[in-house]
Amino acid sequence: MEQNTRAVDWQALINAAWEKRKPLWQDASIDCFRVFHGYEEGSKGTVIEKFNDAAVIDYKTDIREELADLTQALLNVFPFKIIVAKGHQSLGLSLKERTHKLHGNGDVAICHEHDLKFKVKLDTPHNPGLYLDARDTRNWLIENSADRKVLNLFAFTGSLGLSSAYGKASEVIHLDRSKALLPRIEENYQANGIAFESRNFLRGDIYKHLPRAIKAGKKFDGIILDPPPKVYQSRYAKHKTSGQDFSALIQYCTQLLNPGGWIVGMLHRFDYSWDNFENQVKKASGQRLLPQTRLTSGVDFPESMADKKLRVSIFVADDKAAVEK
Ligand SMILES: C[S@@+](CC[C@H](N)C(=O)[O-])C[C@H]1O[C@@H](n2cnc3c(N)ncnc32)[C@H](O)[C@@H]1O
Repeated sequence: MEQNTRAVDWQALINAAWEKRKPLWQDASIDCFRVFHGYEEGSKGTVIEKFNDAAVIDYKTDIREELADLTQALLNVFPFKIIVAKGHQSLGLSLKERTHKLHGNGDVAICHEHDLKFKVKLDTPHNPGLYLDARDTRNWLIENSADRKVLNLFAFTGSLGLSSAYGKASEVIHLDRSKALLPRIEENYQANGIAFESRNFLRGDIYKHLPRAIKAGKKFDGIILDPPPKVYQSRYAKHKTSGQDFSALIQYCTQLLNPGGWIVGMLHRFDYSWDNFENQVKKASGQRLLPQTRLTSGVDFPESMADKKLRVSIFVADDKAAVEK
């Protein structure tokens, strides 16, 4: 377990971080952002995220004795109604022991990002339900999904596909292997008054569904590909999966993409440069996919090393070039 050996002036750190996020808290259309990114802002291992009037503190370094000071520091910058803290599993404690309700009561929040609402669960062991670093990707999807049939792979709580649906996609199919996510995706659609039917969710392993979809001749005009940093070996995969497994997944996705379609590829690993990643995708698609746009996280994710930030590339199917070749 990592010990916190040095006294931290939480109020000074939180004040500085809060000031940096002024463009976010001054924007009346956003009430969710990362309040504190400890790796770069003075306390390695601690991150704090705001979802409307709730704050979630995640710590990998044992700061349990400092949580009262930290709570007060947060309340001094914003009138949070709920503050919860969650210790990382590497601290060796049970979820109950490492989850602390520090202020107020309740374990659900509805937060707002521009025109969309998202429901988050504050007491889940991992992410509460909204990846805040993907804000600009959700905006891109709202702007670029009209009249497209979109496939949202590794859907989680559906926030990316919901952005496409809000952006007037003709249809959005979410795919995730976890059954427990269906009600969470439904709730997010409901919160935004957007229709959702059971055919909009495909439950199951991606390595089972994608070959089937290819065989059935399915095609999409946009594919959102956001694999976790380490894709677990699937019994349906005929190859050994590695890292985010883009090479294999892009080969499937290329076959599912209509001419003129796009693929949103989200890179979460630090062992690739952005150029490496785009070259890997180009190669895996047989040079059909060309990178067109790059997106990353916002001011609430300060990083001195560019390769530690979320890196998102939008690839477009360049079918004219492929035909001419
Ligand atoms: C990091 S989350 C994706 C985040 C999501 N795109 C978002 O922006 O909210 C990873 C998701 O992938 C799903 N997943 C992991 N391996 C999978 C597999 N082999 N097939 C289908 N889903 C998988 C998990 O259940 C989890 O919901």
